[in-house]
Amino acid sequence: MFLRKMQLPLYLLLLAAWIPKAVFCQEQSDAEEQSPQANHEQAYHKISLANSEFAGRLLKLLVSENPQKNVFFSPVSIATAFAMLSLGTKTATLTNLLEGLGFNLTELQEREIHQGFQGLAHLLNTTEGKVQLESGNGLFIDDQLEPLQSFLDDAKNLYGAEVFAANFKDSQGAKKQINDYVDKKTHGKIPELIKHLDPTTVMILINHIFFKGNWETAFNVTLTEPQDFYVDENTTVQVPMMVKREKLYYHRDDELFSSMVVLPYEGNAWLILVLPDEGKLEQALEAIIAKKGISHSRFVEKRKVSIYLPRISVSTSYDLEQLLPKIGIRDVFTDKADLTGISTQSKLQVSKVLHKAVLEVSENGTVAAAITDIEIQRNIAAPPVTIKFDRPFFVSIMDTNIHQHLFVGKIVDPTAKY
Ligand SMILES: *[C@@H]1O[C@H](CO)[C@@H](O)[C@H](O)[C@H]1NC(C)=O
Ligand SMILES: *[C@@H]1O[C@H](CO)[C@@H](O)[C@H](O)[C@H]1NC(C)=O
Ligand SMILES: *[C@@H]1O[C@H](CO)[C@@H](O)[C@H](O)[C@H]1NC(C)=O
Ligand SMILES: *[C@@H]1O[C@H](CO)[C@@H](O)[C@H](O)[C@H]1NC(C)=O
Ligand SMILES: *[C@@H]1O[C@H](CO)[C@@H](O)[C@H](O)[C@H]1NC(C)=O
Repeated sequence: MFLRKMQLPLYLLLLAAWIPKAVFCQEQSDAEEQSPQANHEQAYHKISLANSEFAGRLLKLLVSENPQKNVFFSPVSIATAFAMLSLGTKTATLTNLLEGLGFNLTELQEREIHQGFQGLAHLLNTTEGKVQLESGNGLFIDDQLEPLQSFLDDAKNLYGAEVFAANFKDSQGAKKQINDYVDKKTHGKIPELIKHLDPTTVMILINHIFFKGNWETAFNVTLTEPQDFYVDENTTVQVPMMVKREKLYYHRDDELFSSMVVLPYEGNAWLILVLPDEGKLEQALEAIIAKKGISHSRFVEKRKVSIYLPRISVSTSYDLEQLLPKIGIRDVFTDKADLTGISTQSKLQVSKVLHKAVLEVSENGTVAAAITDIEIQRNIAAPPVTIKFDRPFFVSIMDTNIHQHLFVGKIVDPTAKY
């Protein structure tokens, strides 16, 4: 019946909101058993290296494609969405997709890859501690498409996907259905994901991730004042510069041409801030990617740090179907795509992959976070340092349970909404 070629837009989105506000998820009782958690960690461990490698390749690509622009995205969200999509791919398309995500298929079986993502989904979907981290997958399927039961079962069982019936011929209705879903999952941060929906769409896959954390110690809002931020040699913008002085993990790394500092959230997450030396942005990025990212093990020494950090409010949007072929994920976007694992009824191909991200960083934290540091130092204290983020820098939110970079980016202009 459906022999004409159909499009399969795949939409991804994510959101990070750092509006450290007081109201948070309450801590959960430790009713969870040890062993499922340990199993998830073990399964996830097998894919973590590939995920880091993929994140690095994508960061490098996005930075080079967007010179002079903010870059911010969730590599975990993108990898998860494509891994879930791979459940519906076969033959060369499957191999190309998994290898494009950085997996070595002689070392790792497809099954282990999915188990790894299943583990990751569980690890990323806890309200443990005070960090609010929510992620999940949604599948919207047109009533004309008859998806294979095996695809739906795998998507539900391995990726916890919520499956919804949609009618894409009524594009206004379908658009509203999806935008409402996204609005809800991102707590209002991405109110209108889709502006225009092609009525020939038969399926939309969405991965979302939401993060919200309180600083362990807030910035004092009365100390925030307008200061210059040097976007590049010809451009200076005024930013609200926050400041605090605190004992923090600080690391000077000559190999990476950078100084870096960790701002901890209450709970199991860090904001890692990397300030490349002046004029060394590209070299720093190269070196960081060559080292497979900033490892948590670099942060061993705490020092008294005066940190100047702009309030950040940026949003990004990427059409990944244009970009991913440049780092090897090709076949799913062509008319040779083999998506017969989703449906054998018609010829499908992925027409669109949209990734959106929002990042907001501000002063707030809970009052209780005004920690008095009573750490006793045995050694003579290293002299205090000042680190001022008044020129382009790199950021990453790391989950410190699993040491995974949830979001990464390059902030060129902290005030640029786009
Ligand atoms: C994949 O793993 C095998 C076995 O460890 C290795 O010989 C091969 O070089 C790897 N392939 C790639 C592309 O890294
Ligand atoms: C995430 O956790 C919530 C609440 O515990 C649960 O309802 C949901 O199914 C979980 N999602 C995934 C993908 O595991
Ligand atoms: C914030 O800074 C102002 C000005 O220095 C000071 O008066 C106030 O006590 C500080 N607030 C907190 C919570 O530390
Ligand atoms: C800054 O301005 C100079 C002179 O107009 C120009 O040559 C240079 O490319 C500009 N730099 C950037 C980063 O735009
Ligand atoms: C920060 O907290 C203050 C006081 O609780 C509140 O008035 C303000 O709206 C908060 N700011 C943000 C950006 O959430």
